[in-house]
Amino acid sequence: MKVVVLTGAGISAESGLATFRDADGLWQGHHVDDVATPEAFQRDPATVHRFYDDRRRELRKVEPNRAHRALARLEQVLGDDLLVVTQNVDDLHERAGSRRIVHMHGELLSALCDSCQGRFAWDDDLGDGPACPGCGSDTLRPDVVWFGEMPYDLDLIERALLEADLFVAIGTSGAVYPAAGFVRMAAIAGAKTLELNLDSSETSHLFDDARQGPASKLVPEWVADLQESSH
Ligand code: APR
Ligand code: ZN
Repeated sequence: MKVVVLTGAGISAESGLATFRDADGLWQGHHVDDVATPEAFQRDPATVHRFYDDRRRELRKVEPNRAHRALARLEQVLGDDLLVVTQNVDDLHERAGSRRIVHMHGELLSALCDSCQGRFAWDDDLGDGPACPGCGSDTLRPDVVWFGEMPYDLDLIERALLEADLFVAIGTSGAVYPAAGFVRMAAIAGAKTLELNLDSSETSHLFDDARQGPASKLVPEWVADLQESSH
């Protein structure tokens, strides 16, 4: 059985990372147009760097939770038949042991050079304009996909959705495209669809089954059921 899992900020909430649109979400304290567009970076790079440097530092203080670990266990069972597509820029899936991960919105622990387009593993601040390891210029930016920019690996993701037998969305509000459209793409290709989310989302009505509750409870339960049913 080929399974594609889409994760959003909700899967990392119980690890202590803020989501975007919940009451205490990042978009309550910051305006998207100030920190998450290429125009904002042109206009005021210092504010944008401060936002991502703070989040990169936050990341060091948190650990993967039971939901991340359950998906890593599922990869042990399904191997290449599982693909996790995450909208998250944190590294909690990898730290939980997952390897078959696509970061469609980029990664906090990566820097992108605006001059040579090189991408470099990065776990330090970018605000003080460090030199690019590739070309030496001081044009490194957070390797995060901002609003108005093209997400990474869409071809790979779409191929996996068209081959999927099961599509599962975990901890995402369904507010942002193209990710919010994946459920339709998978369903049209014949996949069963399941949503695991704390509250109903903007796309819950599109899923065959939608369960509400914390990811740290719903995801291990779903993985145990799937393992049980595959015996
Ligand atoms: N367990 C499960 N779901 C949760 C939990 C939890 N503990 N806590 C919150 N949620 C759910 C919320 O109910 C909400 O539907 O997670 C969802 C988080 O939604 P958003 O904050 O909108 O985050 P996300 O869907 O990942 O945002 C998509 O928008 O801002 C951009 O690029 C950014 O990747 C991000 C994209
Ligand atoms: Zn460079």
